[in-house]
Amino acid sequence: MSERLYTDLTDWYLLLDPTEDHEEEAALFAAALRSAVVGDCVTLLELGAGAGNNAHFLRESFACTLVDLSARMLALSQARHPDCEHLVGDMRTVRLGRQFDAVVIHDALTYLCASEDLYAMGRTVAEHLRPGGAAVLSPDSVRESFVETSELHAAEDGDRALRTLEWSFDPDPADTEFRADYVFALRRGDEVEVVHDHHRCGLFPVAAWIACLEAAGLIVQLWPRPLDGLEPPHGYWDQMLVARKPMESK
Ligand SMILES: C[S@@+](CC[C@H](N)C(=O)[O-])C[C@H]1O[C@@H](n2cnc3c(N)ncnc32)[C@H](O)[C@@H]1O
Repeated sequence: MSERLYTDLTDWYLLLDPTEDHEEEAALFAAALRSAVVGDCVTLLELGAGAGNNAHFLRESFACTLVDLSARMLALSQARHPDCEHLVGDMRTVRLGRQFDAVVIHDALTYLCASEDLYAMGRTVAEHLRPGGAAVLSPDSVRESFVETSELHAAEDGDRALRTLEWSFDPDPADTEFRADYVFALRRGDEVEVVHDHHRCGLFPVAAWIACLEAAGLIVQLWPRPLDGLEPPHGYWDQMLVARKPMESK
């Protein structure tokens, strides 16, 4: 993993992405799951759970297992959510040997850059759902709605302060990637460090997301994802995917 935000800069993560910003989205995921899952909807696996910002709210209604590629991101969640199970793993390859009522994958989907990654992720989701279970997948960006954006973030915490420029653009519209560049100014007391962090991100049409889940035997439906409060053009996709595992499958 090359992104510094998920390696040596994780101490700053919650200043950039505060937990309270995830409450509405977590409620949306929970409502979609309750409506899509057949039978009990108690056990939940989140892939790419990071610092646990979704889980912070989901754990009120679900028994959560949280998987992420970055042990340091998971440690942020573990410290705040000792009631959840935390496991290091890759959403393309992890196999826990058990099935859940529900699976959630949110913005970590951004880091799937090749078509094979999408299909591998689809198989992971299908293998971890019980028959009648359902998954919510909410990629922030799809080819159809992507626009170049730049955003400024500012936050403080005691004697620490953060200023960030986040700039997303697509150097080659013919491939399946865009790039997000972060310029962080990190202040501790009077000392300021400036860091450039480059993120490779995936960009696929909606049909590609549907295809990788259907190939894994799931039944896919699009679900509205309200983006109230975001000023257009923001580039976020205003829908998400709900994928159900048929009752007759294994
Ligand atoms: C934007 S952060 C997720 C933040 C999370 N929604 C939260 O609020 O804390 C993206 C996360 O995706 C994780 N990630 C990237 N690729 C992954 C993969 N293939 N499998 C699992 N996690 C992955 C990163 O380690 C990072 O923690």
